[in-house]
Amino acid sequence: MQESIKHHLEQKSVGYETVIKAWVKTKRQSKNVAFLALNDGSTIKNLQAVIELTPETEALLARIHTGASVEVHGKLVESAGAGQQNELMASQLIILGEADPDHFPIQPKKHSLEFLREHAHLRFRTNLFGAVTRVRHSMIYAIHSFFNERGFYNVHTPIITASDAEGAGEMFQVTTLDLDKLPRTEDGKIDFSQDFFGRAANLTVSGQLEAELAAMALSKVYTFGPTFRAENSNTSRHLAEFWMIEPEVAFADINDDMDLAEGLLKYCVRYALEHCADDLAFLSERLTNEEKALPEADRSMELIEKLKFVMDNDFVRLTYTEAIDILKNSTPNKKKKFNYIIESWGADLQSEHERYLVEKHFKKPVILTDYPKEIKAFYMKLNEDGKTVRAMDILFPGIGEIVGGSQREENYEKLVQRMKEMHIPIDEMSWYLDTRRFGTVPHAGFGLGFERLLLFVTGMGNVRDVIAFPRTPKNCEF
Ligand code: 4AD
Ligand code: MG
Repeated sequence: MQESIKHHLEQKSVGYETVIKAWVKTKRQSKNVAFLALNDGSTIKNLQAVIELTPETEALLARIHTGASVEVHGKLVESAGAGQQNELMASQLIILGEADPDHFPIQPKKHSLEFLREHAHLRFRTNLFGAVTRVRHSMIYAIHSFFNERGFYNVHTPIITASDAEGAGEMFQVTTLDLDKLPRTEDGKIDFSQDFFGRAANLTVSGQLEAELAAMALSKVYTFGPTFRAENSNTSRHLAEFWMIEPEVAFADINDDMDLAEGLLKYCVRYALEHCADDLAFLSERLTNEEKALPEADRSMELIEKLKFVMDNDFVRLTYTEAIDILKNSTPNKKKKFNYIIESWGADLQSEHERYLVEKHFKKPVILTDYPKEIKAFYMKLNEDGKTVRAMDILFPGIGEIVGGSQREENYEKLVQRMKEMHIPIDEMSWYLDTRRFGTVPHAGFGLGFERLLLFVTGMGNVRDVIAFPRTPKNCEF
């Protein structure tokens, strides 16, 4: 395999012969020489190949346009141009694959994000998606490092499951039954005993319940997998297929849980600042340009400044009850500027409320705890007040909820009681309840939405632009 362009650009000692295989970003021609900006995806930076014009190279260059793949032989030298790194003095130019400029959609000009989504099969070729893809990779690596360094074990929880972890019912069904000829039971219901698994099955909405099983033996575990939700929310923060990191820790309470989540987020941000500097510089400039049209008050903090700010400051921790008081007395609530006016304790918080707390009131990431039990999942530990549960949500600027977690109810009777109240089928969940029957322990965990983390780190505004092939309502191309 060839050494990457990144490698060649970083070399201090040059003057050696090499071969570069890459794609052409741009072509520039003057009287005697042509310049090809070459990129192989190893870095956002291009390597410039300098090609002397001869009848032979001119004929080749006439066929080379943005997007073409080439093989260039030559000598790596220090660039004469100011501010440039090494460049390649070409001795041989070979075309590997042409890209017809009349048909190749990715031209060296600004394309809208919407246009690029429609060409998602080619958008890796843009500087922007190269940068996002590299940062995405670095964040995956950082997350595994974080947990590995702390003695966590990764478990693969199932993607096909028969349980609905959240009791929310927003699931994609999985079946091999012929939908035109559904088998029926005597009382007219679909006969899932004839289905592939002999029962109804679906794609997982969370790996938590299975992670809890593993934590009851390995103490500290995490899953990092695809998650599927058939919620019909067409927002910039929701995907039907997204990736979630879910640690689960035995002998831990909600405070440990918050510390772990805050630690993970800061670790990821630090990792990005240390390892993705070139891509972040590019993404920061993109964001600043993008926001130039906005009034100053609506612009976000410069990207790298914002990342450092989050890394260096403690997140604010407060209870849901305290948050409701702040929101009730807030100007947008009094002036009825919120779409959902907060009238009383018990209201579910919408993203507009979460963002008000983070962006306007505290101007810092916020961890909200102790939510009313009615608006949270059945497995969360009930507080002594009998009204609230030991939940914790982390809210981030520009995003709203990025993490959702809780201390779990480890008491068998109390958990069964909550399941009854929330109409969770107890007999189907006996395997889960066994954790509370045999050696139960206090434990806690959370879920971090990976694409939401990427929104924050890259400064992108829409989750559809931080995953290669987004799945959203009415959209499943590629
Ligand atoms: O708050 P959620 O629903 O929590 C759970 O699934 C728990 N089982 C986690 C746990 O305690 N182990 O989801 C967790 C996070 C959210 O905070 C959000 O960041 C992300 O997952 N998320 C989504 N991201 C993109 N698209 C969607 N449709 C999402 N739904 C949730
Ligand atoms: Mg949540």
